[in-house]
Amino acid sequence: MHHSIEIENLSFKYPDGHQALRDVCLHIEPCEKVALVGPNGAGKSTLILHLNGILTGEGDIRSAGLEVKKENLERIRARIGLVFQSPEDQLFSPTVLDDVAFGPMYQGLPEDEVQARVFEALEVVGMGEYGARVSHHLSLGEKKRIAIATVLSMTPEVLVLDEPTSGLDPRARRALINLLRELDLTMLVSSHDMLMVRELFPRVVIMDEGQIVADGQTRELLDDAALLEAHGLEMPDLQ
Ligand SMILES: Nc1ncnc2c1ncn2[C@@H]1O[C@H](COP(=O)(O)OP(=O)(O)OP(=O)(O)O)[C@@H](O)[C@H]1O
Ligand SMILES: [Mg+2]
Repeated sequence: MHHSIEIENLSFKYPDGHQALRDVCLHIEPCEKVALVGPNGAGKSTLILHLNGILTGEGDIRSAGLEVKKENLERIRARIGLVFQSPEDQLFSPTVLDDVAFGPMYQGLPEDEVQARVFEALEVVGMGEYGARVSHHLSLGEKKRIAIATVLSMTPEVLVLDEPTSGLDPRARRALINLLRELDLTMLVSSHDMLMVRELFPRVVIMDEGQIVADGQTRELLDDAALLEAHGLEMPDLQ
């Protein structure tokens, strides 16, 4: 059985010269649920965009057992469901149905299978009634849920979500947390929502200035006030 994600010594510089990732190493095993936290600009989204070859840095990455390189990208993108930080980057079809059907259609699945996948994915994110709506007219929280449906319809092995709860109202946030708890998939989820991280993710990876500065059990790392403070993080005060 392969690792779900294997990143070895990944470094990446944006074309303007900004060094966004420095020697990042990360291994995620099948069925692990891992949170990725760190301040704005830490490199979380940049790291995530390397997992299916949208960005390419120096170093080696294997996603769902496949080396991330041009010949494998199609297969990798079917196995790694990546939801961008901004849902506008994910939704481009006239209707919600078309957006959610895009992946399985592109995979060449038969029409009835595509329809079943779309129905199921929309139900799972609680958007079963939204098929005929125009994606780009939806509210932010609605778009985020549809963006998740667009990858669930591909039945990925690994789900990678970039700040899935940002902009969601409490009910939608709770529904998403419940959904993520129930989904039996490997997950890497970046978030500033520390309460969700504590609730859902047994393991947390902390990034700062392009590096992984801590990687371990959530209940240990999130109890370490000095560590959190050093990297611009804090647990919300629940009093
Ligand atoms: N296209 C780009 N060109 C140049 N620099 C970029 C580009 N995209 C991101 N950066 C820079 O790379 C660094 C890492 O950005 P990234 O978006 O990965 O951070 P992040 O951890 O996801 O932050 P946030 O919590 O705000 O989403 C930041 O300093 C950012 O300004
Ligand atoms: Mg980001």
